[in-house]
Amino acid sequence: MKKHSIFLLIVLLSLFVVGCKYDFILPEEVPPIDNSKPISFATQIAPIFAEKCNSCHNNQSPKLTADVAYAQLVPSYVNTGTPASSKIYTVPSSGSHYAKVSATQSALILAWITEGAKNN
Ligand code: HEC
Repeated sequence: MKKHSIFLLIVLLSLFVVGCKYDFILPEEVPPIDNSKPISFATQIAPIFAEKCNSCHNNQSPKLTADVAYAQLVPSYVNTGTPASSKIYTVPSSGSHYAKVSATQSALILAWITEGAKNN
């Protein structure tokens, strides 16, 4: 009888150990950007600001509301020669500013600058 319960205990314990599940936190994957057509400032970039930035940047410089965002950003906050050094890319991608863009949004902003930061 005693052997029986020890055996049962071992079975239960091993179930407990096997039952442990590990959830790994994976870095956010960046879906590939559709390069077949140019990134549109009006439909792909400005909406990012509306979603994440304009609670402050409707007043705070640079103003990022759709009507003035382009004029505020280009050329002051973009560097088409070295796109990755553009402030409108580095500041919201850094994680040390008030709001952070997602990896996808960050990639979109960089791609838009790389394509010449067009007002399209
Ligand atoms: C909670 C308010 C707040 C939010 C939200 C916010 N910002 Fe800002 N932002 C500021 C303030 C205040 C400054 C000026 C002082 C500073 O640079 O910290 C600023 C400055 C900036 C600058 C200029 C930095 C420089 O060095 O000249 C950029 C670019 C910028 N923000 C982009 C963004 C973007 C893009 C978003 C959205 C993803 C965003 N901010 C969201 C408050 C905010």
